[in-house]
Amino acid sequence: MNTPEKIYRYENEQEYQVLKALAQHVPKSCDLSAIINQMFVLMHNAQGIGLAAPQVGISARFFIIEIEKNRPLVFINPEIISTSTDLNIHEEGCLSLPKLYAKVQRPASVKIQARDASHRLFTLEAEDILATCIQHELDHLNGVLFIDHLNDAAREQALRRYNKIVAKEQKKAGR
Ligand code: NI
Repeated sequence: MNTPEKIYRYENEQEYQVLKALAQHVPKSCDLSAIINQMFVLMHNAQGIGLAAPQVGISARFFIIEIEKNRPLVFINPEIISTSTDLNIHEEGCLSLPKLYAKVQRPASVKIQARDASHRLFTLEAEDILATCIQHELDHLNGVLFIDHLNDAAREQALRRYNKIVAKEQKKAGR
């Protein structure tokens, strides 16, 4: 695995293919520490709270989250153990579709099992924004983006907004 250099974007056809792919299981022998450190740098620079490996071009099952400052979380080979029947709606965004936000409905709480950066197994019960973030990042490992949770009309509207965001950004960059 190469050290990640940038965050992959939805509107880039090649990068889109990686974002939509099913990510592969991480072998226990795999030392991800350098990659994970670099992912935290990229995520902080982009002012994000979560970043999944496919978003930096690595089709492997791990992601990072940092909602509370200086409480970095690493999830390798995560599995959802259970989800609540009650649902929550949060406004979500994604570093692969920067500046686009949309309300997504998901289970309000989740129980997840994963390995940390040292491949130690842990279980975490999460609610509120952390539960949303975990589900959003885990989706990335299955090629699912937050806009995929919207109904057709809402997704089309969101993509129209995103096209405008991209056009504006490209104009600003003089492309
Ligand atoms: Ni995302």
